[in-house]
Amino acid sequence: MTAVLSRRHLPAPSLPPGRPRLVVAGFMGTGKTEGGRRAARTLSLPFIDVDAVVERRTGLPVESIFARDREAGFRQAEREAMRDAARLSGAVVAVGGGAVLSRDSFAGLAKDAVVVVLTCDRRTLVLRLRAGAGRPLLHPDPADRIEKLLGEREAVYGAVGDPLDTTALSRDEAGARLAGRYPAPADAWIRVEVGGPLGPYPVVIGAGAIDDAGREVARLLPGAARAAIVSDGSIPEALHHRVARSLREAGLSAGPPILLPSGERAKSVDTAAMLWRRFHEEDLDPSDVVVAVGGGAALDVTGFAAATFARGVALVNVPTTLLAMVDAGLGGKVGIDMEGVKNGVGTFHHPVLVVADPTTLGTLPARMVRAGLAECVKAALLASPLVLDVLDALADSDGMPTHVPWLIEQSVRIKAAYTRDDPRDGALRHSLNLGHTFAHAIESASDLAVPHGEAVAMGLLASARLGASEGVTDPGLADRLERLLAGLGLPTRPPAGLDPGRLLGAMSADKKRRAGRDVFVVPAPGGAELLEGELAAEAVAALVPAGRRTPGG
Ligand SMILES: NC(=O)c1ccc[n+]([C@@H]2O[C@H](COP(=O)([O-])OP(=O)(O)OC[C@H]3O[C@@H](n4cnc5c(N)ncnc54)[C@H](O)[C@@H]3O)[C@@H](O)[C@H]2O)c1
Repeated sequence: MTAVLSRRHLPAPSLPPGRPRLVVAGFMGTGKTEGGRRAARTLSLPFIDVDAVVERRTGLPVESIFARDREAGFRQAEREAMRDAARLSGAVVAVGGGAVLSRDSFAGLAKDAVVVVLTCDRRTLVLRLRAGAGRPLLHPDPADRIEKLLGEREAVYGAVGDPLDTTALSRDEAGARLAGRYPAPADAWIRVEVGGPLGPYPVVIGAGAIDDAGREVARLLPGAARAAIVSDGSIPEALHHRVARSLREAGLSAGPPILLPSGERAKSVDTAAMLWRRFHEEDLDPSDVVVAVGGGAALDVTGFAAATFARGVALVNVPTTLLAMVDAGLGGKVGIDMEGVKNGVGTFHHPVLVVADPTTLGTLPARMVRAGLAECVKAALLASPLVLDVLDALADSDGMPTHVPWLIEQSVRIKAAYTRDDPRDGALRHSLNLGHTFAHAIESASDLAVPHGEAVAMGLLASARLGASEGVTDPGLADRLERLLAGLGLPTRPPAGLDPGRLLGAMSADKKRRAGRDVFVVPAPGGAELLEGELAAEAVAALVPAGRRTPGG
């Protein structure tokens, strides 16, 4: 950056409550990793192995970390990994044998979790651990060390969770028993409550939730009699038909949907005016409800019309893109584009309900699904770094993510935390603009040829580079991010023809600019940092190098 004139730390907020975690603790050799992995598969939850996280972060095997940093250094890294794991909802987390000794960090992980302590009889343990390879605490005499360490730890193990004896169990049996300890969900849907002064409202997540939208609306708005359904006109008709059917089944009257132009074209004054006219013709009043179905563009313009018609009609969002499920559908920002400026006119209108049904993504082009993953990466970078590890695993598996509902849940919890703490975007919530100064400029400069989510991917990378050059961001993050984004099939560079002059011009028209200064949010340890200053043309060219797009479009 040519000159940084001010900087402000934006700490990651506490996250709303989530589903329980299954924490697998116990002495080394009791089968935590293999049992935990199998339990996670059975429960369709991601598996986090805290030792593996520490190894990945330090770039060293546990034994070498002990050799270099002693046990104290390893425990410090382990505590940080446990703190990050404690931010996850609904995950299976296996911890190393000594993790329970870091009482505060383990207690954070164990809060709202089911803790199972694997045990094993001493003779079998000695046989399993005889070689001691990769187990620095067993040197030099494994049998003697096992006896001593167990003596020190047994009381702690007994106090932190319920035991499960794996002596006679195969790995599959241990996994099945572990999975059996996880409580059956009380509800068919994953629910995240968006709290704060303008809430609370639920985000309901799950396969088939769209067919339950009516029941949820009737529960939350018992006085509502009529619903106006507004849908992106290019999405499969079945989606808004299903919403209409469920509303009628729940006793609301709902006419044929009002159809919008596809995608960003809908975010116009003309579309907003068309919606006001239709609401007027249908005699909509503030006791009714507007139900928006579609991607972020349809939700933005419908929310804007609902916010302004009759001084505000209740809004229900049914997002049908991943990006809208994790970002645009909640948080209350609604608006339209104006004279080429994205979201140039808008206001706040929080929904009363969001229904995110991942099965609706089945018809969304794969490129658009990937674009939504960029917003999941942004959320994880800001407030839950272990989600990046899960995304890394998705990236490696070279296919559609297997944990989509889980990813939606984690990303929604993160956005919900920021909107709870800063519902009107006064300060902390600026964090959600991570990478977005670059992203909005890339979208504008490409005449919207680069979809929002892809532009966010490039913007995240540019902000990590900017943060590193300012000494704020871990210098290794940009490379990790570039690998992750490319692995997820996201482009990391704008199209080769993108005019750097137009990019700069778009940045100077950015709404986030203050007093003539550029405003950037960059990743920082424990959250993000807001930088204000001047960014020279050469710096922009270095941070957003144009080139070939990663294939996959
Ligand atoms: N309000 C906010 O807080 C917020 C946050 C992030 C983004 N946004 C806005 O969201 C918009 C981008 O949203 P988006 O990425 O969802 O794209 P989009 O709404 O433009 O939709 C992209 C395309 O996907 C199609 N589509 C949507 N759902 C489909 C489905 N299930 N099957 C088949 N096709 C489907 C649409 O017709 C469209 O052609 C931008 O305008 C951005 O500014 C708003």
